[in-house]
Amino acid sequence: MRILALESSCDETAAAVVEDGRRVLSGVVATQIERHKIFGGVVPEIASRLHAESICAVTGEALEKAGLALCEVDAVAVTYAPGLIGALLVGVNYAKGLALGSGKPLVPVHHLRAHIAANYITHPDLEPPFLCLVVSGGNTLLVQVEDYTVFHVLGRTRDDAAGEALDKAARAMGLPYPGGVHLDEAAKGGDAHAFSFPHPSVEGAPLDFSFSGLKTAVLNRLHNAAQKGETIETADLAASFQSAVADALLRNTGAALQRTRAKKLVLAGGVSANSVLRERVGILAKRYGAQLYLPALSLCGDNAAMVGAQGYYEYLAGRRGDMSLNAAATMPIEENGR
Ligand code: KG4
Repeated sequence: MRILALESSCDETAAAVVEDGRRVLSGVVATQIERHKIFGGVVPEIASRLHAESICAVTGEALEKAGLALCEVDAVAVTYAPGLIGALLVGVNYAKGLALGSGKPLVPVHHLRAHIAANYITHPDLEPPFLCLVVSGGNTLLVQVEDYTVFHVLGRTRDDAAGEALDKAARAMGLPYPGGVHLDEAAKGGDAHAFSFPHPSVEGAPLDFSFSGLKTAVLNRLHNAAQKGETIETADLAASFQSAVADALLRNTGAALQRTRAKKLVLAGGVSANSVLRERVGILAKRYGAQLYLPALSLCGDNAAMVGAQGYYEYLAGRRGDMSLNAAATMPIEENGR
């Protein structure tokens, strides 16, 4: 079964054609990074307009690369939540038009489920159940993936997402947008023990995360240094902060592995591209005797191939959208839109 998939939840306009949830026939990503860089972050209104400008061309290119016409695909899948509402609406409305015009079924896909599904493309042998740490720009979750469309959240952030904390810290250090990537680069060769950061935990909820205290700590450290006229070695600060974020993510993941006795551990989301996290999660998985699955670096960030992968399993589970399908800025991963 071939699915034409669309993604427009943030600052990438993407389209892909995916066969049977695992084989990518084509994938096109038009990134808006250069246009948002001067603002130091994504400007939602600009993001929506840029999606509207490029979605036709991106979709046409994906079909062309797959060597298919719209009438030759079996369904249209689209990210409908969570994300920037105006950005999501562009993809949802365009997908509705394609589905209505071609008579193909429309399949709504949750963005974080799609991030998890990037692993089905990277690892053709991977099947649920497994434990997944989802770390993206807007979300940090520990999820028990019972089946392709059945999810139980074990832990979530109470405030900022890990990616958000990395982006804000990077910005305060004067690094360009998107911060996480540049912070990862800047930290190379830095001393991860040069600065100490708090190890925040949530009382009574050992699998929940909190990153706002860590973020404030790094901002305070920079302000104090500026007031005293001290210079701070960016590589050392970036390495120490990145290590503190990884500590928090891995401590809870270890606790979840212990609690669930999961034999498979999966990483998903934009922050799963982080070099330190990728290295250290391998050590953690080994300690708990779990098989580790990391998404290919090319599939960590937003893309439509992962939407096509999850869209396939949503389709098999009977999930359909009609012309009343709406986008949603927030939506729990467990929700099936019923
Ligand atoms: O999953 P994603 O592409 O977007 C959302 O769906 O939210 O995640 C974007 C996040 C940003 O915070 C970005 O800075 C972060 O992923 N990121 C990284 C790295 N690459 C992307 N963070 C740390 N290290 C990286 N190498």
